[in-house]
Amino acid sequence: MQAESQGILNGESLSGTQSTFPVDELRSEFPALHRNPEFVFFDNAAGAQIPQSVLDAVNRHLLECNVQRGGLYAKSREVDATITRARQSVAILVNARDPNEIAFGMNATSFIRLVSLAIGQTLGARNEIVVTDMDHEANVATWLALERSGAQIRWWKMRDDGNLQVDDLAPLLSAKTRLVACTLTSNAIGSIVDVASAAKAAHAAGAEVFLDSVHYGPHGLIDVQAFDCDYLVCSGYKIFSPHMGFLWGRRELLCQLPTFREDFIPDEPPGKIEAGTFIYENVAGMEAAVRYLETLGTQTGSIKDVATPENRRESTRHAFDAIRLYEETLSLEMFRVLADCGAVVYGITDWSRIRERVPTLLFNLPGISPARVTEELARRNFGVRDGHMYSPRLMRRLGLAQETGAVRASLVHYNTLAEVRGFGDALAEIKRSC
Ligand SMILES: Cc1ncc(COP(=O)(O)O)c(C=O)c1O
Repeated sequence: MQAESQGILNGESLSGTQSTFPVDELRSEFPALHRNPEFVFFDNAAGAQIPQSVLDAVNRHLLECNVQRGGLYAKSREVDATITRARQSVAILVNARDPNEIAFGMNATSFIRLVSLAIGQTLGARNEIVVTDMDHEANVATWLALERSGAQIRWWKMRDDGNLQVDDLAPLLSAKTRLVACTLTSNAIGSIVDVASAAKAAHAAGAEVFLDSVHYGPHGLIDVQAFDCDYLVCSGYKIFSPHMGFLWGRRELLCQLPTFREDFIPDEPPGKIEAGTFIYENVAGMEAAVRYLETLGTQTGSIKDVATPENRRESTRHAFDAIRLYEETLSLEMFRVLADCGAVVYGITDWSRIRERVPTLLFNLPGISPARVTEELARRNFGVRDGHMYSPRLMRRLGLAQETGAVRASLVHYNTLAEVRGFGDALAEIKRSC
């Protein structure tokens, strides 16, 4: 799982994708990427920047209809319409069968907690919950907390090859398994999990599947029908929207969940999941973020008209096809610059498995503490993060101290090869001077 990145690439050249992906055009849509002083943002795993269209949608909402929903006056009706549109858009983004399977709220963690609290009340004889040691702690600790309600925890462990393998899940499943909680992609090391195979195995045992798509969201096409999961949580602020989160759940399961709600709220999704007021302007921003991705798809794919839900979905697919290919070139170039400066890279480091990861790279420079590396990078206007990445179990699994962890550079489609090369130069300089 841990390999010197030196020599990994074998001189493999980058594909031609970077020349066809309209990165300059896309970057021009993100005002925050063009502020002074120049700043290279490689901390996208903690939240991405937003395009102007998203900013405009938030502003428009606050200026035109910053009122409570559910009233009969025009501005209030407009809030209802905005939420309905956003639900339809997010349903298209994740390929939900019904927009009412989408619930809006604060963030992913609170939704995981909401579902886990409800599941904790319905454990019965099926009381085993499978969690992984590769997940963000939000999708681990929330389930561990159910031990107080009688849950038995089973651990699906990452292999030395830097990913979770379904062969290791199968022996953990039985007629007692209630749920498998797992990530689509590690926020620390970027490995993409084969969640469709995991869901097949879990369902064969009669268990449900809860997916954390927070880190996968900006990098790949979410498809709840293809994944065949039961619940999926995501944070909009990782996929080019303002701070908010959403939950998708199978309608029949959401209907059964015992959630908290006021007595007069019908026991039906999405209302039963959305107690209280959420941040409407940010939901308006989320809707615009979905539209941004669809438009990106029209720039990179064959569909030019996104008037129908089918075309919108297809266009989103094109967007992520292009993003995935482009991001592979970023990952390969990151491998190269990290190898050049003698970094130790954690997770999948074999370039032939590039399809199995996103451009989120966890590494250390031997002999220099992670905090020192990020401080030095910050002085050179690079934004990266050090520490345990909210995945302390994974750090320990990788042989790293939880307190210090490692350095994470997390890129998205608006980052460039030139930025990666500049990053390599900065690391080489830090290595020489520290
Ligand atoms: C993979 C993953 N899961 C869950 C979370 C928690 O998300 P939120 O901040 O929306 O609660 C994060 C946040 O970084 C994450 O990366």
